Amino acid sequence: MLSSPARESVTARAPAKVNLLLEVGPRRDDGYHDLVTVFQALDLAEDVTATDADTFSVEVTGTAGADVDGVPLDERNLALRAALLLAARAGVDRGAHLSVRKGVPVAGGMAGGSADAAAALVACDALWGLHLGLEALTELGAELGADVPFCLHGRTAVGTGRGDRLVPVLTTASFHWVLVLAGRGLSTPEVFAECDRLREASGRPVPEADAGERLRAVEAAVRSGAPSALGRALSNDLQDAACSLAPELTGTLAAGADAGALAGLVSGSGPTVALLAASAPDARRLAAQLRPRFGERVRTAAGPVPGARVLEAVRAR
Ligand code: C5P
Repeated sequence: MLSSPARESVTARAPAKVNLLLEVGPRRDDGYHDLVTVFQALDLAEDVTATDADTFSVEVTGTAGADVDGVPLDERNLALRAALLLAARAGVDRGAHLSVRKGVPVAGGMAGGSADAAAALVACDALWGLHLGLEALTELGAELGADVPFCLHGRTAVGTGRGDRLVPVLTTASFHWVLVLAGRGLSTPEVFAECDRLREASGRPVPEADAGERLRAVEAAVRSGAPSALGRALSNDLQDAACSLAPELTGTLAAGADAGALAGLVSGSGPTVALLAASAPDARRLAAQLRPRFGERVRTAAGPVPGARVLEAVRAR
């Protein structure tokens, strides 16, 4: 199918995420953990431009401060894997050159790689004129990684299973964040393994992720739009494991509290620390107060924002 593309090139954008709640159940036989999580999409984004080509290739560039050295350019690259999977399933006989412009910290616990996959799916779907729709792209996304479906959907959503079964949480409110990036990345499988190790060492039974009281508190806070209520409800079961592997995070969280953040937590598997502010001006003040210590590693962000979408499409001649 398809010997000439519908477009010459298409650019799509997908958002980063922060987990407002991350409940981690026991390790499953397949190595994954059942989660109950609440994702929020933030206005830090990955842009992927897919250009018609005979073969598949990828290049990665960074916006200010994004260290792209650790991003693989072979078939471990999630954008490339997304394009290859879509082409195989849809029977496309063209290739694509993918140009990834990273605005999300690499290995930072903010789903940068998953956002690349989401943006690549949306860009290639439009490049090849497939019009598969969000549901079909979400099914493909779940094969690529547990966070890819959320990067496609965006906004705020409860995730269960591996984090890939999504139900939206509707709100008209915006929340304002200060992110403190770490000097190094953490590997998601290593953080989950450290969580298992700490739990085993404690000798206490591992609770199921039960979608109970903690979830209801986060959902109510998001719907109400009250940042102080959200600050009280934030929690992350991977935080102790991330702090165990990167002990400096404890100091970063304390610095955020001292600087007046409503609350702070490690984002996902870390090591990015997300600090909640009461308003956009408060986020700017908080960031200014943290910059003398953390420099360029301090960013402001807001959410929720939409999921992966086409920014620009250039017509084939
Ligand atoms: O799905 P993804 O490739 O993003 O997951 C990376 C790793 O994180 C998995 O291989 C697994 O070790 C861990 N993980 C997990 N449980 C989840 C999601 C991820 O254990 N629900």
